[in-house]
Amino acid sequence: MSELLYEGKAKQMWSTEDENVLRVVYMDQATALNGKKKDVIKGKGHVNNQISSLIFEYLIKNDIPTHFIKKISENEELVKKVKIFPLEIVTRNVAAGHFSTRYGVEEGKKFNKPVEEMYFKSDELDDPFINESQALALEIATKEDLNRIWDLSRKVNALLTDLFKQAGMKLVDFKLEFGTLEDGTLVLADEFSPDNCRLWDLEDNRHLDKDVYRRDIGDLTPVYEEVLNRLKKVLNK
Ligand code: C5P
Repeated sequence: MSELLYEGKAKQMWSTEDENVLRVVYMDQATALNGKKKDVIKGKGHVNNQISSLIFEYLIKNDIPTHFIKKISENEELVKKVKIFPLEIVTRNVAAGHFSTRYGVEEGKKFNKPVEEMYFKSDELDDPFINESQALALEIATKEDLNRIWDLSRKVNALLTDLFKQAGMKLVDFKLEFGTLEDGTLVLADEFSPDNCRLWDLEDNRHLDKDVYRRDIGDLTPVYEEVLNRLKKVLNK
């Protein structure tokens, strides 16, 4: 019997016969403004599952430990069960979004060195910004965990900046989540899709990510399909 364990903003997690394996269902749903804007977007679950599966397979091939096992249908994948650190790990290569509004910087300013931020995952508290000493004080993770998380995030940034560049896109910023497996191994979890990163076209800086929905610029699914098709071409899939 499969049981719904958790329903997030765009995904559901179901139990499987193996207690260490979960089934993820990508839904045709988008939210923004912390859930205040919410819509059904036909085809989004399917395309995000494909994009995230391709990216996780690519990261695994490049020695990044992850929770991903395999894609099992158009909108489902199997993942290893992890205990998630309640942290959102954000890396920014170029100023955009909240960095621009918070610090009054024009979108598009390229940083000499990536900007690294952490947020405490909490719907009630609206995911507040958190620094390392605060995370340690709250016993969210150990110093070793945080070092490992940032080491892996930097590797993911290098790998994906290069991959997206080959596909004609600039990786502006992205959010990662990490967790630990049953045996304590720290792994990359959640998903990697245009829902949790910003991608700009290399030629004309066109938005190829969820900002299309957040800012009501156009239809989301065709934009995500373009990202998928460009990735497939580069990865020969
Ligand atoms: O909104 P902000 O500019 O801080 O977002 C930075 C990056 O993190 C963006 O790529 C955004 O899609 C992602 N993000 C996310 N989930 C959140 C907050 C941000 O995926 N809750």
